[in-house]
Amino acid sequence: MSNTRRIMLSPGMGFLWVCTLVGLGCSKAETQSPAGLDRHRTEQILPVNLNDAEEESYMVFLTRILEEAEIPEELARHIQGVAAEGPAFLMDLLSALEGDPYLRVLVDKEHALAVAYEPEDLVELTGGFYRVSRRGLLLRRAAGMALEEMAAAAQADGVLITVSSAYRSYSYQETVYARNVRESGQETADRESARPGHSQHQLGLVVDFDPIDDSFAETKAGPWVEEHGRLFGWSISYPQGYEALTGYRWESWHYRYVGRELTYFIDTYFNGIQQYALRFIYHWEKAGGL
Ligand code: DAL
Ligand code: ZN
Repeated sequence: MSNTRRIMLSPGMGFLWVCTLVGLGCSKAETQSPAGLDRHRTEQILPVNLNDAEEESYMVFLTRILEEAEIPEELARHIQGVAAEGPAFLMDLLSALEGDPYLRVLVDKEHALAVAYEPEDLVELTGGFYRVSRRGLLLRRAAGMALEEMAAAAQADGVLITVSSAYRSYSYQETVYARNVRESGQETADRESARPGHSQHQLGLVVDFDPIDDSFAETKAGPWVEEHGRLFGWSISYPQGYEALTGYRWESWHYRYVGRELTYFIDTYFNGIQQYALRFIYHWEKAGGL
């Protein structure tokens, strides 16, 4: 049971959900203190307490966050239903909240990164199982490794992945955005190019696959990445039909590495829409979580 983790959810609910992350079954039990459990088990317990200051129950808190994140009503109702049934939603959320916060940070038209933000562990993409369209492309180490893993799986399926763009510094994004405005005009540029500070590329966790245009969806790599990318932690940022939500037109080639826990969370509860999930998480964490 060393890989078993337990979670407590109380106190406003009068009961305790005890459950494992490895599918050993969940049950509702009377509230008990973790101090009553043996040392080995105590170490595995992750206590989750409601925010006392606000004195809200989990469901009330969840409803508030869904509203603040402006999750559409039907989707919000679905999430509330799942959350009311058992601890899976909360546990999957907590899994997604573990680890590097930059994997889940909201970077969009309203939320910017600091001008000076530059990841510390950028590595050059040298291309093992994938190709690069030019030298000098950089990604954060974890994203680079996940890219290599994904590209190896793609190659085993006879699909070659080529990366055309990766990390872009604030100042480089200034150049990219200005060029887009110059060439296409402000309105078109704002549909497909982020203003400096607002580009996910500054995270060092994003790749644009080749070619960086709509024809990527027609290549062998397009549908392959769409189907399998999530298994390696890659999530499409600007899906088809969601321009009103994301602020950008469909970019079939632009994927963000968010890690497997988060791709699972996005797919399972937010219909695969990264923007909804990250906005939910943003408001959850801003409110202090549970
Ligand atoms: N093309 C995306 C929106 C960017 O410039 O980051
Ligand atoms: Zn991009």
